[in-house]
Amino acid sequence: DDGSFVPAVVIGTGYGAAVSALRLGEAGVSTLMLEMGQLWNQPGPDGNVFCNMLKPDKRSSWFKKRTEAPLGSFLWFDVVNRDIEPYAGVLDRVNFDQMSVYVGRGVGGGSLVNGGMAVQPKRSYFEEILPQVDAGEMYDRYFPRANAMLKVNHIAPDWFEKTDWYQFARVSREQAGKAGLSTTFVPNVYDFDYMRREAAGEVPKSALGTEVIYGNNHGKQSLDKTYLAAALGTGKVTIETLHQVKAVRQQPDGTYVLTVDRIDADGRQLARKEISCRYLFLGAGSLGSSELLVRARDTGALPGLNDEVGRGWGPNGNIMTARANHMWNPTGSKQSSIPALGIDDWDNAAAPVFAEIAPMPAGVETWVSLYLAITKNPERGTFVYDRATDRAKLQWTREQNAPAVAAAKSLFDRINKANTTMYRYDLFGAQLKAFADDFSYHPLGGAVLGKATDLYGRVQGHKNLYVTDGALIPGSVGVNPFVTITALAERNIERVIAQDITAR
Ligand code: FDA
Repeated sequence: DDGSFVPAVVIGTGYGAAVSALRLGEAGVSTLMLEMGQLWNQPGPDGNVFCNMLKPDKRSSWFKKRTEAPLGSFLWFDVVNRDIEPYAGVLDRVNFDQMSVYVGRGVGGGSLVNGGMAVQPKRSYFEEILPQVDAGEMYDRYFPRANAMLKVNHIAPDWFEKTDWYQFARVSREQAGKAGLSTTFVPNVYDFDYMRREAAGEVPKSALGTEVIYGNNHGKQSLDKTYLAAALGTGKVTIETLHQVKAVRQQPDGTYVLTVDRIDADGRQLARKEISCRYLFLGAGSLGSSELLVRARDTGALPGLNDEVGRGWGPNGNIMTARANHMWNPTGSKQSSIPALGIDDWDNAAAPVFAEIAPMPAGVETWVSLYLAITKNPERGTFVYDRATDRAKLQWTREQNAPAVAAAKSLFDRINKANTTMYRYDLFGAQLKAFADDFSYHPLGGAVLGKATDLYGRVQGHKNLYVTDGALIPGSVGVNPFVTITALAERNIERVIAQDITAR
């Protein structure tokens, strides 16, 4: 297995990775993708590839003894989580000291587990966070390209207004309206035509069958069905699964050498390989790419990496909260797992918030309105290499999330006041807690564009080394991030292929 050489390696198979691999393949560059998770295409004993949220089994989680669902409790009882066997499941929760981060594991990365919400940031905010990127080019060319490739589609408003499955969203919209707040429809990569047929009983249920964070068996146009299928279709791209990259070094002739562990789905190590390449693209996500880089810098394997590597991390201001409704305002025992509306208060200068109206599909009436608030928190964390464990640690304290909680609270206090309702304190663990400030779905940063890299993701200090993923974005983007990650990757790879690869 040792000593195999390929022209280009892409680490990971999430958004940035998938875009890069497709465009490299189209340019005729033989490209190997290395993914630590599984290819999710084999049905389990129940006939499904993925398990649902109400009955999670080992397929749900990346090597855990018990599932770690974001909404762990109901009336403070841990009713949601289950004991499971450690397995290469699809959702990981990486638990740092004072912040936990959810990420997808498998061919497609986060696209396998996420809510599919496909949102472009407000142009003014994009210009604020990445001022050196030509926004005109992004909004005219790369965002449309990303949306088309990702198969972003829109819910039919007439169906939304009448279906039982979105009663929870209509209730929240009405209550936001009483507080003078407006909502907006949120585009998605989940096929809304498929969802209508689910509702009509014509096809197997997925979004309407409590599937999402542990994978969707139907309906979702995840990356394996879009970018990655196209990449494989070039005939130039291959994907190796259950291959985890452990270390990266560069040889005097410029070649990169990767140390890679191959495991089986039960976690047994089958082999340790070395793979070398000319061009190396890091698409292991904010956590994965940052860890590989801080490890390489601080062990001396890539000594040219600068001090910006590891910096500029943020949770995209993520705060979850829930409200209790009056008895006469039920949110419905039927709830689609795919959100369709957001409360847009981003232009409120005092406390900008974009809050997605999230479902809580429990199969019974709960009177709960749940939200994922995206706030503008200026606080940033830093990844540092910990020699003892050979892992990256995240320096981030709970107090750093105080500005995010304050912004979310100011919005939902208004909604509660206008509707004489209250927060729910029982959903986020055993303590009294109305705001979940200790986890994120949207890790961003760690190798920020223009700081750890140049303005196209070329890593400073080492030639032919690139960051392609959420690590490039400086901690916040104001909306759900994958469309921005995809569009930025499209922009960067176009330049890199033209200048660094085909020009040679
Ligand atoms: P991404 O994390 O997608 O991919 C990285 C890949 O690299 C993974 O497959 C990982 O296994 C692999 N990898 C990591 N380290 C490796 C190593 N050392 N060797 C080999 N492989 C390695 N966003 C949004 O826009 N709309 C939404 O609705 C949601 N909803 C949502 C829900 C949930 C539950 C989660 C967890 C996340 C979301 N998100 C979201 C966030 C979104 O999924 C996320 O921003 C993107 O997936 C990030 O894309 P990247 O390309 O950065 O990496």
